[in-house]
Amino acid sequence: MKILVINGPNINMLGIREPGIYGKDSYGDLLALLTTTGQELGLQIDHFQSNHEGAIVDTIQDAYEKYDAIVINPAAYTHTSVAILDALKAVSIPAVEVHISDVSAREAFRQISYAGMYCEKTIKGQGIDGYRQAIVYLKEKYGCH
Ligand code: DQA
Repeated sequence: MKILVINGPNINMLGIREPGIYGKDSYGDLLALLTTTGQELGLQIDHFQSNHEGAIVDTIQDAYEKYDAIVINPAAYTHTSVAILDALKAVSIPAVEVHISDVSAREAFRQISYAGMYCEKTIKGQGIDGYRQAIVYLKEKYGCH
């Protein structure tokens, strides 16, 4: 099973950006967690991060017929990007949305998620472990082929 993990803007600044909200784990720590999780579960896990909306749309399109599932944290584009929502709908790959912080307890503008309108599950407020939880969920649901 092949899973693609996509992260949006400023996720590469984890550990530096607002540690009171996003925690002290760095982006490198997240990538290490993805590697460990892939080894433990016997999955191929690839990752992509961009600060650019169109690059994220391109990456979702490129995933068509290549990946079995997507884990996506669109970061700030969560709350604005119809283009990312439409790309997810276009490729129709099972997807789980992850947010490191508990967006439901934050500002009003963070209460809408466009990507979340496609994703079958949202994991929020679990720190970087949310990515591992999303991968475990996707393996349990879709990993039998
Ligand atoms: C985030 C929450 C978003 O509101 C924010 O813009 C981010 C990160 C999270 O992982 O908690 O950049 O997606």
